[in-house]
Amino acid sequence: MRVPIIAGNWKMHKDVQEAVSFIKQVKNQLPPADQIETAIAGPTLCLVPMVKAAEESPLKIMAENCYYKNEGAYTGETSPYALYQAGIHHVILGHSERRTYFNETDELINKKVKAALTNGLCPIVCCDDTMGRRIAGKKVHWVVSRILADLHGLTNNEICHVTVAYEPSWAIGTGESADPDQAAEGCYLIRQTISDMYGDEVANNVRILYGGSVTTSNINALMAKNDIDGVLVGAASLNPETFLQLVHH
Ligand code: G3P
Repeated sequence: MRVPIIAGNWKMHKDVQEAVSFIKQVKNQLPPADQIETAIAGPTLCLVPMVKAAEESPLKIMAENCYYKNEGAYTGETSPYALYQAGIHHVILGHSERRTYFNETDELINKKVKAALTNGLCPIVCCDDTMGRRIAGKKVHWVVSRILADLHGLTNNEICHVTVAYEPSWAIGTGESADPDQAAEGCYLIRQTISDMYGDEVANNVRILYGGSVTTSNINALMAKNDIDGVLVGAASLNPETFLQLVHH
């Protein structure tokens, strides 16, 4: 039984005061974590005050990125261990914006996934989707190749702590969500790929979310699909009332 997740990704929105005020508004109106998990990823500077504001509530606070090393001369990077110590137990990795604007590769994302897991963080690995691409001369579905590379070489225990978010690039921030069948098909393909890598039992326990222009109008149809275990929401997660409507869809 996979517990559904409603997660917000604020991206580079909100300052500390706005972030804390949001959490105070929603924290007492959330369902217990064993029914629906709720989580918000915020900008790095806001994370520690967000954790404090979310104390004694089921809301999980997530980082939007981390590096794959814990310390050293890596100006501007954030250590997974430092995040864990600060009370952050989830991290989004491989978001399409990081791949596009910061040139993150599958190889780097795979290193980050492993480092996050080693340091006690549960990664939400984003899998974008455009057209198919060629590997070794053979056309492989984009989603399959992403998952094969990003989740390569994990133990069965580690993969159980991973969540995947299927986020078609053309649906992110465009107001044009994938229709529920398309979204479910992407999530299904991801689960099949994980099953090929780690077996059916493991794949059936991994939660797979859909992200891309999720709103209060389309969440019900998306969540009704068996293969969609939750949503990763950008713009619609910025407003506390809307976030609560999404949670209580
Ligand atoms: O990670 C969430 C995301 O990229 C989707 O953003 O604004 O289309 O809901 P949005």
